[in-house]
Amino acid sequence: MDALECLACGNAYPLDIHNPFCPVHGWPLLIPASRKKRRIKTSASTIYERYADFLPLHPFDPALSLGEGGTPLLSLTRLACELGAPHLLAKNEMMNPTGSFKDRGTVVAVQKAVELGIRRVGTISTGNMAGSTAAYAAKAGLRCLVYVKEDTSRQKIVSAAIHGASVIKVRGDYASLFRRSFEIGRTRGIYFMNSVDPFRIEGYKTAGYEIFEALGADAFNGRKPPRIFVPVSAGGHLIGLMRAFLDLREIGAIGSMPRFVGVQAAGCAPISRAFAGRAETVRRFPRPHTMAHAISNPFPPGGDLALSLLRAGGGLMTSVSEPSILRAQSLLASREGLFCDPASAVALAAARKLGPGRGPDILILTGSGLKTVEDANPVALDIREQDLGGL
Ligand SMILES: Cc1ncc(COP(=O)(O)O)c(C=O)c1O
Ligand SMILES: [Zn+2]
Repeated sequence: MDALECLACGNAYPLDIHNPFCPVHGWPLLIPASRKKRRIKTSASTIYERYADFLPLHPFDPALSLGEGGTPLLSLTRLACELGAPHLLAKNEMMNPTGSFKDRGTVVAVQKAVELGIRRVGTISTGNMAGSTAAYAAKAGLRCLVYVKEDTSRQKIVSAAIHGASVIKVRGDYASLFRRSFEIGRTRGIYFMNSVDPFRIEGYKTAGYEIFEALGADAFNGRKPPRIFVPVSAGGHLIGLMRAFLDLREIGAIGSMPRFVGVQAAGCAPISRAFAGRAETVRRFPRPHTMAHAISNPFPPGGDLALSLLRAGGGLMTSVSEPSILRAQSLLASREGLFCDPASAVALAAARKLGPGRGPDILILTGSGLKTVEDANPVALDIREQDLGGL
């Protein structure tokens, strides 16, 4: 049986997929790093073989994969020029099979469900995790139950339901559904692989290793460390990416951590607010309101852990305004050909707010704009109607 660890107290706890939290601190429990000698197997072709020493897969079952990971790190030359940034890059996570980074985590959690002989999985989601979990459940032949917010876009709801998942639109306090889902999971035998699931977080690490490999070790050992801009909601993704670089530092592959910049929308910024106030615990954000629905979590379950890892690694949290999110989304689409979700656009909005760094700036574009087309700024769109005869 796997044991999980709490980074607040250092204690180990037996794996309980229906309650992966420290009973004392409430922090999400994590998979401890293997004590064996670890290295990236650079001659291997799949990410699961390359990063096998860093992942809890024994071994990975390729039959469960939809081709996630291996996404490009693109040079944003036109935007870099406009912003006066020396080196602006984007990790295009929209290229994952269901259009978001979630797939990297879902595949690992689904493999765990199969290993444990669990036939039903579920998730609570603002949309992307719903589609991702439903797709991987379909591939593995598992049943899937998804709870979404009642105002979730139709594209996102259909993207989950099309895979055969049961989708329930939930009215009421969505934040409280997080804990409730684990109780439902325990009574009905459903593995709720939510935002800070320990196996999901392990899967998110793969993007970190890919960035390290693409930039090369030298980029992390000089005086101009990269900055990595990550949109943050529950905190799972940021925690996974930071854990990847902590692994790399531990094995001596890098000398120092990149500077992580966690980004939230100002209309729902509980972690940024705690960071600015030098608080150790994140408080519930009152009356959240932002167009970046995918990162609108007023009470993030990974907030305290993310804060602590950020502070220990010299990172920071910031927040960005609604107009700056719209502008960033439109800039990425019109200058670089990248149509991302408003939740992803916060990364560029933050890079513009902070100004150029000394080293390369990497934006993690977490999800596709195609699932939230109605949120795009209509003012920036040149769409007209004309009769055929008048053309
Ligand atoms: C597009 C997008 N970006 C970022 C996030 C935030 O990820 P996390 O909840 O792991 O912080 C989400 C989560 O739903 C998302 O859908
Ligand atoms: Zn603890």
